[in-house]
Amino acid sequence: MPTKALPTASALDTARLLLGVFLPTIAKGPIIRRPWAVGLAARLDLDTKSVDLVRAIHGKYPDGPLMLRVPIRRQAVVLAPGDVHTVLAQSPDPFSPASSEKRAALSHFQPHNVLITRGPERTVRRALQEQVLDTDSPVHHLADRFVPVVEEEMGSLLASATSTGSLPWGDFLDAWYRVVRRVVFGDHARDDTELTALIIRLRKDGNWAFLKPVRKATRRRLLQRIGEELARAEPGSLASVMAAAPTADGVDPVQQVPQWLFAFDPAGMAVFRTLTVLASHPGAMAAARTEADGDTTGRRVLPYLRAAVLETLRLWPTTPMILRQTTAPVEWPAGLMPDRCGVLVYAPYFHRDERNLANAHAFAPERWLTQEDDGWPLVPFSDGPVVCPGRHLVLLVTSAALATLVSDTDFTVAAGQDLDPGRPLPGTLDNYSVTLGVAPRAAAAS
Ligand code: HEM
Repeated sequence: MPTKALPTASALDTARLLLGVFLPTIAKGPIIRRPWAVGLAARLDLDTKSVDLVRAIHGKYPDGPLMLRVPIRRQAVVLAPGDVHTVLAQSPDPFSPASSEKRAALSHFQPHNVLITRGPERTVRRALQEQVLDTDSPVHHLADRFVPVVEEEMGSLLASATSTGSLPWGDFLDAWYRVVRRVVFGDHARDDTELTALIIRLRKDGNWAFLKPVRKATRRRLLQRIGEELARAEPGSLASVMAAAPTADGVDPVQQVPQWLFAFDPAGMAVFRTLTVLASHPGAMAAARTEADGDTTGRRVLPYLRAAVLETLRLWPTTPMILRQTTAPVEWPAGLMPDRCGVLVYAPYFHRDERNLANAHAFAPERWLTQEDDGWPLVPFSDGPVVCPGRHLVLLVTSAALATLVSDTDFTVAAGQDLDPGRPLPGTLDNYSVTLGVAPRAAAAS
C-alpha cells in the first residue's frame, strides 16, 4: 500500500509563512546581520508576529511535519516539539545540516567546513572540531589563557567607556573582535583588523547565497591568511591546538577555522544583549554580581552568568532557523517526507511558547539551572550529534566577559529599546541601536 503524503499547507498559508517568517529572517541577514533590517524588525515587532503566525498555522495543521507548497524545491516545517527532537537526534543522517541554501551561503568563505559536509568527511571534520574546541568539557583546557585575555580586553574597554560615560555597540564589537583574534590566533593577531574585514566582506556575500558569485580571490586570500596563522600556531591559541592535532584524510583544517571567526559574532551579540538586560533588570544584575563577587574559580565556572547568556539566546536566538535536508525519504507517523526535502525548525516558536513555558517572555536564567523545561526544545545551540561543538567555549568566554563587566561598573540603557522587567520582552532586541550608560559601581550597590 503506498504511504500517505505528509499534510501540505495551502498556497495561501505557504505564502503567509514565506512572507511572515522566511522573508524577515532572511532580510535580517542569516550569515551577517544587516543592522537596518534588525532595526526595522524591532520597530515593527516582526519576530513576535512571526511566532504568532507559526502558532496559527500549527493550530490549523496539528499533524506534522508540514509540507509547504513551493515550486522547485521540497520544503517542510517542523511544528511539534517531539518532531524537533527526532530531526535533531537523527542528524546528520537522514537529516543533514548541509542543506542546499546553507552550502551556497557558507561556500563564500568555507566550502569544506564541517557544517556543509556530508558523508565520511563530515565524521573526520566534526572529530577535529570537537577535539580543538574541547566540546565535552565545560572548561576548555586553554581557559587559563583565554580568561585573562577576556579580562584584559573587557578591562580596557571599560576604562575608555567609563571616561566617556557611554558604551555603544560599535565600541563593544571592536573590543570583542580583539578577544576573538587573540583566542583564535594568539596575541600577535590582536590588532589584525584586516583579517576580520576579509571574513566580513565574504559573509556579506554569504547573505545572498546563490545570488552572488563567490569572490574567489578574496576567499583565497582569507584561507591563505588562516593557513599562515595555523603554521605560526602561537602557543595558547585555538590555532595551536588545531596545528598539533593529528589530521585524517579530507579534514581540511584551514577551512574549519572561518566558522570560529564567524560564530564568535553571535557570542559577542549575546554578551552585549545580556548586559543590556542586566542594566534594566535589577534583580538579575544583583544575582550576577553576587556570583561574580563570590567567585572562587577564576571566572571559569559561573553557572548563573552562563545561564544568563543561554537565556538571552533563548529570547533572541542568533540561529533562529535550524535547517536540515533529507538524505533519503523519511517515514513519519503523519506520512512520508521525500528525499532532498528542506526541513526548518523555527526556534523562536518553541522558545517563546507561553502555553508550554513559564515566563516565556521574561528574563529567567534560573530555568537553565533546574530541570523545569527538560524535554522542551530550547535549542539556541541546536541539539543532538550536530549540536554546536563550541557551546561550552562560548559560555566560558561570554560569562567571563560579563563577570568582568559587571564587577566594578554600573550600566544603564542610555539609548535603544526599553526593556521593562514588568512587561513582556520584545521579540527583537536591536543591539545596534543600544548605547549603555557607564559609571563606576556605586558604593551603595557593592
Ligand atoms: C552564541 C554563539 C553561538 C551560537 C548560538 C552557536 C550556535 C550553533 C548552532 C545552532 C549550530 C548548529 C547549526 C545546525 O544545527 O545546523 C552550530 C554549529 C557549529 N558551531 Fe556554533 N554557535 C556559536 C558559537 C560558536 C563558536 C564560537 C564556535 C567555534 C569557536 C562554534 C563552532 C561551531 C561549529 C564548528 C559548528 C558546526 C557543527 C557541525 O556541523 O557538526 N560555534 N553553532
